[in-house]
Amino acid sequence: MTGLFKHISLTSFLFITVYSVTSNADVDNGKDLHNSNCTSCHVSIQGGDGSGIYTRENRRIESHPALIKQVKRCRDSLGVPWPDEHVSDVVEYLNSSFYKFKK
Ligand code: HEC
Repeated sequence: MTGLFKHISLTSFLFITVYSVTSNADVDNGKDLHNSNCTSCHVSIQGGDGSGIYTRENRRIESHPALIKQVKRCRDSLGVPWPDEHVSDVVEYLNSSFYKFKK
């Protein structure tokens, strides 16, 4: 019984922690989300760590709104049910690391 109780409180603790982290637009969270979900496909296309897809000469994305659209498109092809906050975190991460668009 004690073990079960511990398990339940640990689970709610993690939930609260994860929830409060993801409710702010946050580059570090975007980086984690990106690195655990988004790289495998891009690596198979582009090689290296996959980030070359964002920096290649003929890259597709040339504006901040286009970046948001592409992140949503790729999220949908990945099939993860990310809320818009996750999308903004990942957009902020990609923009601050690679694209550097002014908003
Ligand atoms: C199912 C494979 C796949 C997954 C998973 C995937 N992508 Fe992509 N992504 C692609 C392909 C293919 C392209 C290139 C499309 C093109 O060249 O028109 C691309 C291109 C992009 C680009 C534009 C690069 C440029 O040309 O400027 C961005 C931004 C991007 N992906 C973000 C993401 C994010 C964020 C995730 C995780 C949610 C993700 N992708 C997951 C396949 C994937």
